[in-house]
Amino acid sequence: MNSYSMDNKVALVTGGATGIGAAVVDSLTQAGAMVVISDINVAAGKAKAEDLKAKNLRAEFIEHDVSSEAQWQSTIDKVVANNGGLDVLVNNAGILIGGLLADLSIEDFRRIYSINVEGVFLGMKYAALAMRPGGSCGRGGSIINLSSVAGIVGTPGESIYGSSKGAVRAMTKHAAVEFATLGYGIRVNSVHPGPVATPMGGQVLETLASDKLLGSEEAAMQLVQNLIPMKRFGEPHEIAQLVHFLASDASAYVTGSEYVVDGGFTAM
Ligand SMILES: NC(=O)c1ccc[n+]([C@@H]2O[C@H](COP(=O)([O-])OP(=O)(O)OC[C@H]3O[C@@H](n4cnc5c(N)ncnc54)[C@H](O)[C@@H]3O)[C@@H](O)[C@H]2O)c1
Repeated sequence: MNSYSMDNKVALVTGGATGIGAAVVDSLTQAGAMVVISDINVAAGKAKAEDLKAKNLRAEFIEHDVSSEAQWQSTIDKVVANNGGLDVLVNNAGILIGGLLADLSIEDFRRIYSINVEGVFLGMKYAALAMRPGGSCGRGGSIINLSSVAGIVGTPGESIYGSSKGAVRAMTKHAAVEFATLGYGIRVNSVHPGPVATPMGGQVLETLASDKLLGSEEAAMQLVQNLIPMKRFGEPHEIAQLVHFLASDASAYVTGSEYVVDGGFTAM
């Protein structure tokens, strides 16, 4: 069997209604997976699932706020009950609040961390409880956490966001080592995109273009192009293909690793 095939696998993709998450949903369903899309954007999530079903691909939508522990418990329970298991969790949902460190508030900090860090922690916790031996599915699995190049290097206007992604990067490695040591059969890896053409990618440019930073869209675009050897933003499907590799059996010996997909940004 093709080791990239996702036949017989059940995947949950958080924030799967739009952007990178939606591209991941496309890749995994096209490879044969049953994909549960979870998101707070109900209209876009339902539309995405309907669109895939119309193409004879397997998908369903669940409304789910990743910052809620109760919703994580009920979402994982529903995915397992409705689909007979859970093999892949893509912790993709995330938010960016840009701005100068000195202007950002403690409320901004807590909001970003509640989604980007607590959401990933809760996802790994409840997925591991279900995937590990003796859990409600108990057949191991693969967890992919969306971090960012901002979790590895500094950029202006992204201090809280970047630090939340650094937390995801470290938590990924700790979970991977712990789960492997305990023989759970659960791999955990992080993916680190550079700027990607999605609504959040637009927010990155807006922050850089603000009066307190570079002062114009042209200057912001120039800086981004200078930072990226390939001179362009990534496309959502270019991130999704890496996630597909990590979700599939093609990456059976890969755990605790961080994968940049950034047009050369962090190689400079
Ligand atoms: N776009 C980029 O430039 C870029 C770069 C590096 C990393 N990332 C990361 O990739 C992931 C996806 O980013 P994107 O660009 O597609 O963002 P996006 O803003 O385009 O989409 C994010 C999705 O997450 C959903 N979401 C937000 N809060 C949620 C919550 N509390 N619970 C459930 N769903 C929620 C949104 O409704 C949306 O559908 C994020 O973790 C982001 O930090 C993005």
